[in-house]
Amino acid sequence: MIALVTGASSGIGEATARRLAREPGSELILVARREERLRALAAELGCATAIAADLTDDDAPARIAAVVEAEHGGLDLLVNNAGAAWRSTFAEGGWDNVHRHMRLDFDAQVRLTEALLPLVRRKAPSAIVNVSSTAGRVARDATGAYSAAKFALAGWTDALHLEEAAHGVHVGLVLPGFVATEGFPQRELVDRLLTRWIVSTPETVAEAIVDAGPGGRAERYVPRPYWIAAALRVCAPRLVRRVLGGSAGKRLATQTRSGEARR
Ligand SMILES: NC(=O)c1ccc[n+]([C@@H]2O[C@H](COP(=O)([O-])OP(=O)(O)OC[C@H]3O[C@@H](n4cnc5c(N)ncnc54)[C@H](OP(=O)(O)O)[C@@H]3O)[C@@H](O)[C@H]2O)c1
Repeated sequence: MIALVTGASSGIGEATARRLAREPGSELILVARREERLRALAAELGCATAIAADLTDDDAPARIAAVVEAEHGGLDLLVNNAGAAWRSTFAEGGWDNVHRHMRLDFDAQVRLTEALLPLVRRKAPSAIVNVSSTAGRVARDATGAYSAAKFALAGWTDALHLEEAAHGVHVGLVLPGFVATEGFPQRELVDRLLTRWIVSTPETVAEAIVDAGPGGRAERYVPRPYWIAAALRVCAPRLVRRVLGGSAGKRLATQTRSGEARR
């Protein structure tokens, strides 16, 4: 299987590369900005090549497609995983923060898919897996810009799934909840015994990505029961708002209390 994984230099992407390397006859193409890391992983796996690229650069999709075309001639699996989050309320971060998220967490996936789709179709039955987030179905305070991009990615993926079926390309969507990685350390949750259990590992998400790959599932939440949060957002929006508003309200109250204590 010829597979390209973006964001393979750490976290979920690295775990996905390691998982895919165990598939028989794997040929992997690893993409991210940190070349040293990609090269080290490629050398360790033995069946991978590295392409250092900033996916928000204008020429990145064409440059990556040219390498895949020249060295592999087609693609069985494209995993659009690279992404990041910069926490901020809209009042603080404004359009700049929304734009920054859209460029990396949505536009980059769309642009790379556009460049690679002919190569994916060439290998049909093949697959594209997009890594969104549970935040792509349920928004919380101070992550609105991230949610906007992940909602967009989820909606676009749902449509692409329907469009590409006729061409033999399965399009899967993976929606992780909390996963402890470099970019998303989840320290608040990991440090507390009471909440540690809700944090998943990158390896668990990598399994879900394989599950949503060629001939696989259309949609996978990680952990699986998180689909309930998305369903509740539709069926019981007031309840979800009360729960999430409650946590924001409590946080604000705590901040106010500690602010008062300092004064
Ligand atoms: N961890 C979670 O709790 C969680 C939950 C839901 C969804 N997700 C999603 O899962 C995906 C992977 O995140 P992660 O948790 O594994 O975080 P991570 O460890 O920080 O990995 C992010 C990856 O994206 C790459 N990347 C970032 N900016 C890039 C750019 N401009 N061009 C190319 N590559 C870029 C990074 O590589 P370089 O820095 O080397 O470029 C890195 O390999 C993201 O899309 C994230 O939104 C994560």
